[in-house]
Amino acid sequence: MNILLLGSGGREHALAWSLAASPLVERLYCAPGNAGIAREAEIAALDIADHAAVIAFCKAKAIDLVVVGPEGPLVAGIVDDLEAQGIRAFGPTKAAARLEGSKGFTKDLCRAHGIPTAAYQRFDAPDDAKAYVRRRGVPIVIKADGLAAGKGVVVAATLAEAEAAIDANFSAASGDSLREIVVEDFLEGEEASFFALCDGETAIPFGTAQDHKRAFDGDLGPNTGGMGAYSPAPVMTKDLIARSMTEIVQPTLRAMKSIGAPYKGVLYAGLMITKGGPQLIEYNARFGDPECQVLMLRLKSDLAPALWAARDGVLKTFDLRWHDHVALTVVMAANGYPGAYAKGSPISGLDEAAALEGVAIFHAGTRADQDRILANGGRVLNVCAIGSTVREAQSRAYAAVDKIAWPGGFCRRDIGWRAIEREAAARKPA
Ligand code: AMP
Ligand code: GLY
Repeated sequence: MNILLLGSGGREHALAWSLAASPLVERLYCAPGNAGIAREAEIAALDIADHAAVIAFCKAKAIDLVVVGPEGPLVAGIVDDLEAQGIRAFGPTKAAARLEGSKGFTKDLCRAHGIPTAAYQRFDAPDDAKAYVRRRGVPIVIKADGLAAGKGVVVAATLAEAEAAIDANFSAASGDSLREIVVEDFLEGEEASFFALCDGETAIPFGTAQDHKRAFDGDLGPNTGGMGAYSPAPVMTKDLIARSMTEIVQPTLRAMKSIGAPYKGVLYAGLMITKGGPQLIEYNARFGDPECQVLMLRLKSDLAPALWAARDGVLKTFDLRWHDHVALTVVMAANGYPGAYAKGSPISGLDEAAALEGVAIFHAGTRADQDRILANGGRVLNVCAIGSTVREAQSRAYAAVDKIAWPGGFCRRDIGWRAIEREAAARKPA
């Protein structure tokens, strides 16, 4: 089959790497891609926001399946537009992608179907929201309703912080006079990411991961898109995976089907594992980035037929195999990220780093300039490694990081710390 992959980050490099390994894939294209993806796929110079251009490309190249990486095109309805032209696409329709695109929609769906999530209320004006916060007390969480690239959430420890967050959402500077927010209770526990492959009716677990959202060591500093991740998430026991499926994912699929928006694609549940069990923090309608990178390093089965089966609604009879090893990824970001950063600084040592045992490097934001690789984004590289323990995967990943010469970038040095502490505690005699 011929596949067109949409996106340009580390997630898409990992998907391209996995798809390129499939004996079923004849030609693999990626738009817009990056310098790493160019080694796995033919780069198509397409504006992926231009659906007509994507459709024309698919027809010209006899594309059998389009795989959509990021949420933007999903929420913009690219799957609807492709399917309307008879082109198979992996990912949710615009109506189904509301699970990521609107927090209010998802919270209402959870409430209506008894899916465990924090108690909440929706507001379209600041005064009512503030009165609710005063009644409810702190800590409390304020969320912008729409897509906000991970920047739309404030966990407020004080009333003053909560009120400031509410005002910020409704201020003219927020750019959208029709703002809506969700205010919800603070959940206590450990966070984990849970992935399920969905075909509209059937869901099958697609792995667990944990990421580090803060920019600096010790989980300090500003929030980012994710500075590193590992899979599996040790907190996600067999029992918690089963509960997440029956209490959260399956009722969501039934609910989406019942409203005429069956969910196909990968469903990424951000969970809080509380004393009472898993609670849904949020859904994403796509793979996580950098979580996808570690999932791909653990997937033993061929990815292409799995995505095809999800699109075709035949997951019921599908079986996925996983490697036993752990995978971990360290994100190397441009100095200044998640704030302002420069593009264009040169990176070297990538081949030496990638040659180390158990190491794989995915490009998140790079471009090629003849023989040189230049930084071309905030998150620039995903230095990944597999190992029999998180500790081993971590030390291999940092050995690779140390071979990379990039003065323009930085990374955290403690990715996986919580899982490594857990491993150490498990080894200690009781
Ligand atoms: P989100 O952008 O929805 O993933 O939220 C960003 C982060 O805010 C999450 O990863 C959590 O760490 C935190 N968060 C969101 N909602 C809650 C909640 N109800 N209770 C505690 N933490 C939360
Ligand atoms: N790493 C978090 C995300 O992809 O949303």
